[in-house]
Amino acid sequence: MVTSRMRSIRSELETRWMARPTVILDEVDSTNRWLKNQQGHGEASHGMAVWADAQTEGRGRLGRTWHSPPGSNIYTSVLLCPPHNRLSGVLSLVAGVAVCDAVRRAVGLDARMKWPNDAVIQGRKFCGILVEAGADPSPWAIVGIGVNVTGPVDPALVHAVSLSEARDGLVSREDLWRTLMSTLEYAYDQWIAQGDTWVVRAWTRMNVTLGQEVQVKRPGDAPWVGTAESIDVDGGLWVVAHGRREKVISGEVSIRLADGRYAPESF
Ligand code: BTN
Repeated sequence: MVTSRMRSIRSELETRWMARPTVILDEVDSTNRWLKNQQGHGEASHGMAVWADAQTEGRGRLGRTWHSPPGSNIYTSVLLCPPHNRLSGVLSLVAGVAVCDAVRRAVGLDARMKWPNDAVIQGRKFCGILVEAGADPSPWAIVGIGVNVTGPVDPALVHAVSLSEARDGLVSREDLWRTLMSTLEYAYDQWIAQGDTWVVRAWTRMNVTLGQEVQVKRPGDAPWVGTAESIDVDGGLWVVAHGRREKVISGEVSIRLADGRYAPESF
């Protein structure tokens, strides 16, 4: 159920344009799908946000579903309309930087990014980001963010954690959502003002993937192991091994550490 604080969260926003307006829903199939539909009908503009208490068909990367029970978590999407000359692939990095920043400020935990779009604490995933973008009639991107705040987490995911489990104490999803809208606005504005390099640097500072031996699993191909070297401005990951240097694109692969672990517990 939508709490009364969730219902009045708009009055607490500290943003200039992000999450203005915001629509709060009890239940929806998917916040990304809902916002895309609004945008398709010309009923959404840059910065519009939707936050649902529950999703019946929450969507994840690579065609997966996103466990979305009511009463405890954040399922939110925002519409961003970048200028024509900017690559919207960078927006998943922008969102990752904003999520980690928000969790540090609002919850006090050391959140990090696992390439491409998973936010982790102590090697366990608490947040996933799904960006869907297009260029018709002008560039748009829907940035969907799912955060396990007080759980319960997806029982099928052994490496999942909620923020309240990781902190061993209460976490307010309303405080976190409000902070997230501020950090998202800040990161987007920095990207527009300073360019891709700002985002790549900020993401690199808060990641757990670069420098690690990783296993690249592409559907239909044999997995291979290499060192995660750097991140590209389009969000791709450069992996090197025995003279082979390949850019891995987020839509097609999953990454594990070479020893099979999901992500390092410390760094
Ligand atoms: C992933 O890790 O696979 C990405 C998960 C993204 C989930 C969020 S929840 C809000 C938004 N609506 C969706 O249907 N998906 C995203």
